Formats: sequence, C-alpha cells, structure tokens
Amino acid sequence: RFTPRPEDRFSFGIWTVGWQGVDVFGPGTRPPMPAERAVRELAELGAYGVNFHDNDVFDFDATPAERDERVGAFRKALEETGLVVTTATTNLFSHPVFKDGAFTSNDRDVRRFALRKTMDNIDLAAELGARVYVAWGGREGAESGAAKDVRTALDRYKEAFDVLGSYVLDRGYDLRFAIEPKPNEPRGDILLPTVGHALAFIEELEHPELVGVNPEVGHEEMAGLNYAHGLAQALWHGKLYHIDLNGQHGPRYDQDLRFGAGNARGAFWVVDLVDGSDYDGPIHFDYKPPRTEDDAGVWESARACMRNWLILREKVRAFRADPEVQEALRAARVDELAQSTLAEGESWRDVRDFTPDIDALAARGAAFERLDQLALEHLYGVR
Ligand code: GCO
Ligand code: MN
Ligand code: MN
Ligand code: MN
Repeated sequence: RFTPRPEDRFSFGIWTVGWQGVDVFGPGTRPPMPAERAVRELAELGAYGVNFHDNDVFDFDATPAERDERVGAFRKALEETGLVVTTATTNLFSHPVFKDGAFTSNDRDVRRFALRKTMDNIDLAAELGARVYVAWGGREGAESGAAKDVRTALDRYKEAFDVLGSYVLDRGYDLRFAIEPKPNEPRGDILLPTVGHALAFIEELEHPELVGVNPEVGHEEMAGLNYAHGLAQALWHGKLYHIDLNGQHGPRYDQDLRFGAGNARGAFWVVDLVDGSDYDGPIHFDYKPPRTEDDAGVWESARACMRNWLILREKVRAFRADPEVQEALRAARVDELAQSTLAEGESWRDVRDFTPDIDALAARGAAFERLDQLALEHLYGVR
C-alpha cells in the first residue's frame, strides 16, 4: 500500500536529493552526490523520471572531456534504470557571473552568455528526451529601487524567451518552456513573482504557445496565495506544463519541505485538483531534505514525498466517492456554477430587468461548512 510505481509518474529534481544542505548560515552537512547515484536510488524507490540543471550533472567549469564523462555516467544510469528525463533546466543563479540575474542582468554580456548556456543545455535536454524546459528566474530581480528598471528588464526577459523559442523551433525540438514563478529569495524581489504575473507575461511573447508555467507549492504560499487556485487558473488557460511539489508553512523563507508536510490541508486540495484534471505531466517533487538529515534521511524524505501523494490520492478519491459528500456538493450548489448565467440564445436583454426575491436569496445559507467538514474528516482519517 502506498508504494510508488512508474505509472504514478513521480519525478524528482536531481538537485533535491543531491542537496548538500548549504544555507546562508553554514556549509553543507552531506557529501556531494553524483547525478547517476540520484538516478539509481530514485529508480529503486519507484520514481518514473528526473529533471536536471546542467550543473547538477557536470560542473560549471568542467572541460569538454569532463562534461562528456559526467553526461555519459548520467545517461548510463538512465538507460540501466529506465528512468525518463521528463524535464530539464539551466543553472543561471549559482555562479557569481549571474549575481545580477541572467536574462535580465544589466550587463549585456551576461545576458548573451545566459542565452548560450541555456541553448547548450536545451541541446542536451532534447537529446535525452525532455519535453519541458523549466525556467525559474533565480536571480532575475533586485534588492533596491533604481538599480533595476523593471519595465526594461521585462523587455529583456521577453527577448530571451523569444530568442529561445526561435531556437527550439529552428532546431525542430519538441520542447516547451515552463516559467516557474517565485516572489523572493535569493533576490529581495524576483521578476514574475506569481503564477498570475507569469501568465500575463506569456501572452506578450512572440510564441506564447511554447510557454506555460511551472507553479511551486512553496513559492505561491510564500506570497500568501492558494496554490491549488493558481494551478486551477493555469489549467484554465491551458498553461499548466509542469508542477513543482513541496511543503511550506505560510509566508516565510522558502522551506522546500517534503510534499505533504507544511500546509497539509492545501496539499489535500492540490491532489484533488490534479487527480481530477487532464494534467498529464509528471508528478514532480522539488523539495530539499533538511540539512539535519544524513543519507538515510534523504531517501526517507524522497520516499515520503511519493507516499504522501499516494496517501492523499486515496483520501481525495474516497472524499469524491462518498455519497454524503455528493449530497453536500449538491446542497452547496457546486453543480449550479457549471450552468451558464445566461441560457442558450439569451442576451443581456433577458437579465436587464431580472428581479429575484432578494430577501429570500440573501437569507439562504450556502451550506459550505458541512461540505468542508466532510473534507477535513476525510483528511483527518475518521471517515
Ligand atoms: C527554488 C526553485 C528551484 C527551481 C529549480 C528549477 O526555490 O530553489 O524552486 O529549485 O525549481 O532551480 O529551475
Ligand atoms: Mn527552494
Ligand atoms: Mn522552491
Ligand atoms: Mn522549484
């Protein structure tokens, strides 16, 4: 029970289990983990795929021979385990050259280099079969006011996606981009801070059809937003290309807890939404095993991400199948929202003088509390 299987389509960033625990107050607490080890262990745990940054596999300053050796070892582990590369991304935030961002650095040479670094890894991503290329705006942002002209920075950000879009089209790659919003950290303010900002930005691009979003639980919750609502709106726009699942306790630093930890009630509604939707991408975890953990704790937390998804999936399915819930949904008029406000063939003329019994409507209870209590009882495990 709750054993992950490849058909559950679970995937992990190589950098998640590979995180050594470096933070602003101290160095790593665990040794480095080669990408091929992450692949083998994740396959053993029942994962289906992985996502990687270029520099999760080889160092920023690797020689061509070193790069080939590292990519070779990664590829060999993928072939031997059958793990799929679902997604790839670029590290445009660790090296000091990116201290003021990459695509929106004030320094033009940095921007040109960032494009080149991204195209290099797009080639590798396409070769390894990735279908989604994630773009998290790590250091695209600012700490102060005058140093970054946000409107001009957005011009440059758009330019980057236009250039990368034409690269993918010219090369004939079957690859779409997924912008990952985040409000802050490591910058004081990051551009495209929420799902809503990113969705609006995408519509200004030359190839909006190539670009969607990769919302992350913690990032929306850091902004005090409802992650499931963000996912729902992304789905509504046809823009949910990928998801980054983890856990967070409200607005504070980016905690990257294992999925299901942190806001457990929020996680319930995330699984309910995704399980009942036509999202067909990977169920992807982007979390960090806390730096208190040793190697065993790393794998414990990775297993727990998948287990928590499966536990919540069983709960949301039981909730949806519960006859009392179905009755409570009707009492709460959830089905009525699916009826268009105007009937077929009607126009504004038909409601121009609509006069219902306002007192009766106002007096009518919404019956939401009973419905929500049923959900909580399923979550708490008493139904
Ligand atoms: C973070 C981000 C990153 C990105 C990753 C992929 O807050 O650290 O979530 O983990 O998802 O860099 O681009
Ligand atoms: Mn993080
Ligand atoms: Mn994060
Ligand atoms: Mn992420």
